[in-house]
Formats: sequence, structure tokens, C-alpha cells
Amino acid sequence: MVSEKIARLINEQITHEQYAAQYYLSMSAWFFERDLDGIGNYFRVQSKEELFHAEKMFDYLKDVGETIEIGAIPKPPHEFSSQIEIFEKALEHEKVVTKSIFNIVKNATEEGDFATVSFLQWFINEQVEEEANASQLVTKIRMVNDNPSALYLFDQELAQRVFSPAGEA
Ligand code: FEO
Repeated sequence: MVSEKIARLINEQITHEQYAAQYYLSMSAWFFERDLDGIGNYFRVQSKEELFHAEKMFDYLKDVGETIEIGAIPKPPHEFSSQIEIFEKALEHEKVVTKSIFNIVKNATEEGDFATVSFLQWFINEQVEEEANASQLVTKIRMVNDNPSALYLFDQELAQRVFSPAGEA
């Protein structure tokens, strides 16, 4: 049902999602090191979501009986110049992930692989939400960046985030 090419793209996407998890975990660590535990929590939850995305793709390949080949995950950046930069990089990264998912959808559509197109619909919706959230946080961090009281409240706000397997958090 799924061609070799689509299976390869999904296998690669699993690695992209796992890389995103590592990337966000690294961002999370940056904030924890600076005692901004609420923001650190936000990125740690985001990291868990990315692993959940990878697992969803893993399960899809399993369900359609395709070979699953786990790839090497590159080391994510560890140094960041500022908190604003981190949120900007997170948004940038989500845009890259969206493009990558769209590319699989495009290929699956061209092949008439509607099972994969249907499966990826969840990810298309998820990316709309993820980009919207990331974009909103870029706006917010720019607003609060130089104001310690506002940053404190922002940190408290992001401390509320919990991992939800449905990916709504
Ligand atoms: Fe798995 Fe943030 O996209």
C-alpha cells in the first residue's frame, strides 16, 4: 500500500521529529540553567510532543507493514545567544517541519496513496497549531524580554503547560 519512497520519507520524518525533540530539550536546558523553569517546562513538554509525533509515524509504518529504520539523530545546538533567539529558532524549526510534512503529502498525493494522505492530515493540522503557538510566543517574548516582572509572569504562564498525547497543549 505504501511505496518504498513514501516509507523512506516517513522513516526520515521520524528522525526529524526525534531531532526536534532533542532540539527542544536543549532549549529547555538553556532556560532551566537560568532559573526560568516555566519556560524550561514549556520546551520540555514540546520535546515530549515531538517524540509522540515520531511514535505516531512509527506506528503507521508498523500498521502498513513497512520496514522501520531508525536513523541517527544529529546533535542539536547547545549555545544560544538570547531567549528571543530561542523562540525565533523554535518558530523557524516548525516551519521546516511543516515543509517536510507537506513534501510527504505531496508525494503521497501524486502516488494516489490516500491512506498516507489521510494519516498525515493530523500532522497538517498539528503544524498549523504549532506554528501559531510558536509565532505567538515570539511576539510575547519580544514584549516581555527587558521587563523582569513581565518575564516572571510569562515564565509562570508557561509553567502551566502539561504534555497531552493529543497534542493540544
Ligand atoms: Fe512534530 Fe513540532 O512538529
